[in-house]
Amino acid sequence: MVKLIGGLLLCSFMISAPVYADASISSAPKAAVPSSTVPSKGPKLMSATQLKAFDGKNGHKAYVALNGKVYDVTNIDEWKNGKHYKGMVAGTDLTPYISKSPHGPQIVDQLGLTPVAIYKK
Ligand code: HEM
Repeated sequence: MVKLIGGLLLCSFMISAPVYADASISSAPKAAVPSSTVPSKGPKLMSATQLKAFDGKNGHKAYVALNGKVYDVTNIDEWKNGKHYKGMVAGTDLTPYISKSPHGPQIVDQLGLTPVAIYKK
């Protein structure tokens, strides 16, 4: 008799336990993020370290930073192999030197250059 009651109790536990476990799993919070909170793809940022690699040497592209923006000067004759006048080189921030150039910062507009990245030291 004791065995019978014990068996019944065990059976009822086995039946009810999985139901309880399932309920706790299905109520687990989902890590869903509303699409409205996902940031849209913004402008690319480039650090000084990243910029340095675009030195125009050995087939590398030639990028220069000017007034917080990065420009691709690879196809400009005056920037061949990443070298320019007055010791200016690609892969660097030219902002402190642009006032010493004969053309000034408007050269980027004159050449129709559009920034490839935002310069973030
Ligand atoms: C985004 C940056 C720059 C670009 C795209 C650029 C581009 C050019 C181009 C296309 C020329 C030949 C046409 C012209 O004289 O207008 C030139 C000339 C020159 N640039 Fe730049 N430049 C840049 C920055 C600088 C800087 C920072 C200096 C610093 C001193 C500089 C100094 C010169 C000099 C001395 C010349 C020669 C002008 C002459 O023919 O006597 N440039 N540059």
